Parts: sequence; C-alpha cells; structure tokens
Amino acid sequence: MNNDIRRTIQRLSENHCLEADEYEALVVSFDEESASLLQEYAVKQRKEIYGNSVYVRGLIEISNICKNDCLYCGIRRSNNNADRYRLSQNEIIQCADVGYNLGFRTFVLQGGEDAYYTDDLLEEIISRLKCKYDDIAITLSLGERSFDSYKRLYDAGADRYLLRHETADEMHYKILHPESMSFDNRMNCLSSLRQIGYQVGCGFMVGSPYQTPKSLAKDLKFIEKFQPDMCGIGPFIPHKDTVFKNEAAGTVELTCLLLSIIRLIKPNILLPSTTALGTIHPFGRERGIQSGANVVMPNLSPVSVRKKYELYDNKICTGEESAECKECLSKRMEEIGYKIVVDKGDIKQIP
Ligand code: 5AD
Ligand code: FES
Repeated sequence: MNNDIRRTIQRLSENHCLEADEYEALVVSFDEESASLLQEYAVKQRKEIYGNSVYVRGLIEISNICKNDCLYCGIRRSNNNADRYRLSQNEIIQCADVGYNLGFRTFVLQGGEDAYYTDDLLEEIISRLKCKYDDIAITLSLGERSFDSYKRLYDAGADRYLLRHETADEMHYKILHPESMSFDNRMNCLSSLRQIGYQVGCGFMVGSPYQTPKSLAKDLKFIEKFQPDMCGIGPFIPHKDTVFKNEAAGTVELTCLLLSIIRLIKPNILLPSTTALGTIHPFGRERGIQSGANVVMPNLSPVSVRKKYELYDNKICTGEESAECKECLSKRMEEIGYKIVVDKGDIKQIP
C-alpha cells in the first residue's frame, strides 16, 4: 500500500466520502495491507454504533416464478430447467410462525416478479402478519412494482424494501439485463420507495460479468449519494443454466473490501453478510462480519422449496430446517465474538 492510498483511506474514514477516481484507485490497487486497514476502520466504526450485535432477518423465499430474464439469474424466465413454485398465503404465514417462535422479529419476503402476488394478496398477507405479531418488521424484496403498488403495501404495514440497483453504470446495466428492463425504471423505483417512507436497501453483485473498477466506483458514489438504510452486496456466482455459466465468480477478498468501504461511507448502514458470500467460502459470512457487515439472513423457507430458489449454483443452507440455520449462524457468530440479536433491528441514528 502506498502513502496515497493510506491517506485516501484515512480521509474516507473521516469524511465518509471520496471522489469516484479515488474509489476506483482503492479497488484497482487493493492489497492485503489496504484491505486490512479498511477493515480495521470499518469494524471500529460499526462497533461504536452496533457493538458486537449482529441482526438477524428471517428470509422467506416466496416464489421462484419471475417474469424477468436477467442474464445472471438462475430463476430467469427463460430457464426451462427451473422447477417453479410459489408459496400460498398460509404457507408464508406458517414460515413466519416458525420464525417468530425461534425469536425472529424481521421477516424478508423475497421472490421473483410473480404476478400471482397482486397488491390485494400482498396487502392481506402483510396485514395478517402485522395483526398477528405487533412487534415485527416486514421487509419486501419483490422487484419492480408501480408507485401505487409500493404505496399500498407500505400502507398495509410493510416497513422496508430491498431492491438492488445491480449496477450504477447504465451501460453495464444493459449488459446484465434484457432489453425489456431499464436502468431508469430501477432508479425510479428506488426513489419511489424512499419517497413513500420505506427504509430502503439497494445493492449489487461483486464481480458480475463486465464489471470494472470504474463501474464499482459508480456504485460507491451512488451509495454515497442515495444514503440507503441497507445495502445488499455479495459475490456474483455463475448459474449453470444462464449465459454467464462460464464466467468467473466474484471473490471473497473484493467483496469484503467493498463491505468495509460501504461501512465507512455510511457507518450506521445495515449491511448483510450474504448467503452468496457463505457459498464461495466456508467462512465467507464470518469474513463479511469481520469486514464491517452487521446483518445475517438465515433461511426460513420450507425445506421442500429451498433448492428451487437457486439464483446461483451450489447455494448453501438448502437442506437445513429453519431452526438449524439459526443455530448454525448463532454459533458461527459466537465463534468470532459476536452475538445474534433478534429484535426488529432498525437502523441506529448516530449519536
Ligand atoms: N450470483 C449472485 N447473486 C445473484 N443474484 C441474482 N443472481 C445471482 C447470481 N448468479 C442477486 C441479485 C438479486 C438478488 C436477489 O440476488 O443481485 O438482486
Ligand atoms: Fe443455514 Fe448454516 S446458516 S446451515
């Protein structure tokens, strides 16, 4: 690490922002030394706000039916090998019941863009859950919908919405998505969600095909400007039934570097250490936490569908019951000196 990089890292940790070319330089020239310096600052700043707590969110994968055809995604419409499923209203509530009894207080309903889940149906699911449990937060991760739809779901009781921007570089966005999808619409969705009042999460894959240090710098500038409450990042992992099947996966090192940088951009951000990171390395999720992440998302989906929600190859946690997943993650976090916290886990304001 040269002195310029050292000074850049110092400045990021003090001012929480950098120029695009400085982010780019951090990515291009990263080595063990610069990664560990970033990590040190990131963990220190996170500890000042969240201590040793790691928030848990119970993930319920409600449907792998999707009208979109994102080139990287295993559940893309054109994948005829995907064994499709959707959970009924009652099945979703049963998953949440199991989770609630295990102590979870945040549920993430995630799925493909499946027209079966109309606003009426989702409103019913959300209000039933909120009626049954008055101390939970509901996060939705159901892709692009209209302003009105987002508003109705918010009014029904949804608290948070995750919609990864995927890449803040429009040309790159075009390479990763079919013609029918647009960068502008994705960005408009994110601003609608914010305007409506959701806690909003954006995010991207690390090492996606044709990603460059320049496009990553744009992602980081976007995060700096948008100031999301949450940010989901994980390595790209090829899926055998997609056009990107022969592309290389993202690395643990670069993903962890970016987690540290994002923590320093927004010290109180809710930052998950993702299943994808746990998939490319046996201690990937631990490494993510040790780089500045503070959220883990154990899987609460019925075991019968787990394998089917395969966005990428070799996804972990597909055979374990919800209780086992929670236990496994609690142990993993304890082993590295952290403790799992099951309350709502809202973003903390910086004192
Ligand atoms: N590898 C890693 N992450 C993926 N996602 C989709 N496909 C893949 C893949 N092959 C991510 C996208 C999406 C989120 C739900 O999962 O970023 O927003
Ligand atoms: Fe699911 Fe370890 S977290 S098996």
